[in-house]
Amino acid sequence: MKNILVTGVSKGLGFEIAQVILESDNCVWGVSRTRTGNIEKLLNKYPNSFKWKEFDLKNVQKTNDELFKNFINFDIKLHGYVNNAALAYDDIISNLQLEPLEIMYKVNVFSPMMITKYVIRNMLLHRIKGSIIHISSISVHTGYKGLAMYASTKGALEAFSKNTAREWGIRGICSNCIVAGFMETAMSSSLTQEQKNRIFNRTSLKKATNPKSVAETVNFLLTDKATSITGQNIFVDSGTI
Ligand SMILES: NC(=O)c1ccc[n+]([C@@H]2O[C@H](COP(=O)([O-])OP(=O)(O)OC[C@H]3O[C@@H](n4cnc5c(N)ncnc54)[C@H](OP(=O)(O)O)[C@@H]3O)[C@@H](O)[C@H]2O)c1
Repeated sequence: MKNILVTGVSKGLGFEIAQVILESDNCVWGVSRTRTGNIEKLLNKYPNSFKWKEFDLKNVQKTNDELFKNFINFDIKLHGYVNNAALAYDDIISNLQLEPLEIMYKVNVFSPMMITKYVIRNMLLHRIKGSIIHISSISVHTGYKGLAMYASTKGALEAFSKNTAREWGIRGICSNCIVAGFMETAMSSSLTQEQKNRIFNRTSLKKATNPKSVAETVNFLLTDKATSITGQNIFVDSGTI
């Protein structure tokens, strides 16, 4: 049974990812700010393999104490880390404000980088050839009006992942990004149908990306079948052009 740390498990894609990993008989160490009905469902259904910690990832300085001392201690062997939690501060660049930008960078980039540090230390301690997966966004590669600041956080993760793969491949640790297309979750719920249709028209499949398809791809990267895949951006985006 593998131990996988997954952030943002309370809803959306993170909940799908947690379910797929748990269905594969592995253990999920989930993190989010809210104890939603989804969290209750997983705690009831998987009392032995689903653990949950309430934590706000904007508290970058507390990641070590809260996640690696009070939750996953160093006796637990970590096999994987899925950096899924994120927030989207969307606005046009001429309206950019520093405070929301800083909060977004803390949640989307700084905490995931600090968590990666402790995940790698855990994997080295236990000699685990683990898998690190960051959820990126198609907005990095195509550009969308209003998503410049958000896309820049995901671009930072793509660079960080590629370099993690270079630095730690020697110890068998893999790092990859899943570049997800537009998914119908809370994050995208403010878009009008017209805006959504414009996004769908930019895809080959002419539809939203299915979170389950993204979750299954994440789960594959956590298996021993994927041990030769590292430093990659894997696009699960309905064929966005
Ligand atoms: N939706 C899309 O179209 C789309 C497209 C491409 C990529 N993505 C990426 O896919 C991933 C999942 O997004 P989603 O669409 O599932 O979004 P979502 O429905 O808004 O879910 C976001 C998750 O992150 C958690 N989270 C947010 N801020 C947090 C914080 N400060 N501390 C701890 N947890 C926090 C939320 O939990 P709490 O609110 O309970 O804390 C929630 O579980 C993200 O990385 C996103 O950037 C999304």
